[in-house]
Amino acid sequence: MPDPAARRRTAVLISGRGSNLRALIEHCARPGASAEIALVVADQPGAPGLEHARAANIRSEIIDQKTRIELERKLNRLLQSFDVEIICLAGFMRVLSPELVAAWRDRLLNIHPSLLPAFRGLETHRRALEAGVRFHGCTVHFVRAEVDAGPIIVQGVLAVSPDDTPESLAARVLTLEHRCYPAALELVASGRAQVVNERVPIDGASAPETLLLNPVA
Ligand code: GRF
Repeated sequence: MPDPAARRRTAVLISGRGSNLRALIEHCARPGASAEIALVVADQPGAPGLEHARAANIRSEIIDQKTRIELERKLNRLLQSFDVEIICLAGFMRVLSPELVAAWRDRLLNIHPSLLPAFRGLETHRRALEAGVRFHGCTVHFVRAEVDAGPIIVQGVLAVSPDDTPESLAARVLTLEHRCYPAALELVASGRAQVVNERVPIDGASAPETLLLNPVA
C-alpha cells in the first residue's frame, strides 16, 4: 500500500521549451503538493526545457534512440529505476506505443492546446480561428492509445477575440496551460481524480477547479 502522506513520484517527458515542465516544478516545490518531480526525460539532447530541471536540481535523462522500441526500452528502465508512479507528457513529440500506454493506464497524463475533443493534432490555434469558435483553451487528460484522446481531468477556457491571431491565442492559451497542468497533477496525485467509466469525477470538486475560465485579456 502506498503511504498516503508520501508525494507521488512523477516523471515529466519533454521535447522542447518546457514551460509546462517549469509550471509543474514550481507547483511541486510548494509544501503541500501531492507530487514531486523525480525525473525529467527529453527525446532531444538540446531541449531548452532541460534547463528548468537543472535549475531545480532534478535528474534529467536523454532518450534519443531512433526506433520506438529502443526508446521505450530505455524509458521503461528509467521509470523503474526512479520508482516513477505518474508520467506527465509536456510537449513530448513522440507517440507512445499502445503497450506502454496500457501499462500506464490512468497514470499517464498529457496536455493539449485545445478544448478536446475539438482540434486534436497540430496547429490547434490556427484551426480554431478558421473554425470561428467563440471559446478555445487547453485540456489535461489521461492518455489512451488514440492520439489526443482520453478521459478529461481539467480544461482551461478563454473567449476568442476578433483581434486574435494564432500567435496571440497560443500565448494566452499557454498561460492557461500553466495553471491547468499543475491543477490536474495535484488532483490525480492526491487521489481526488480517478477514472470511472472513462470519465473523471473529482472528489468534492467545485466546477472552477476542473474548468479554469479566463476572460478576454
Ligand atoms: C504546449 O502547448 C502543450 O499544450 C503541447 O505542447 C506545448 C508544449 O509547450 N502539448 P512547453 O514545452 O511546455 O512550453
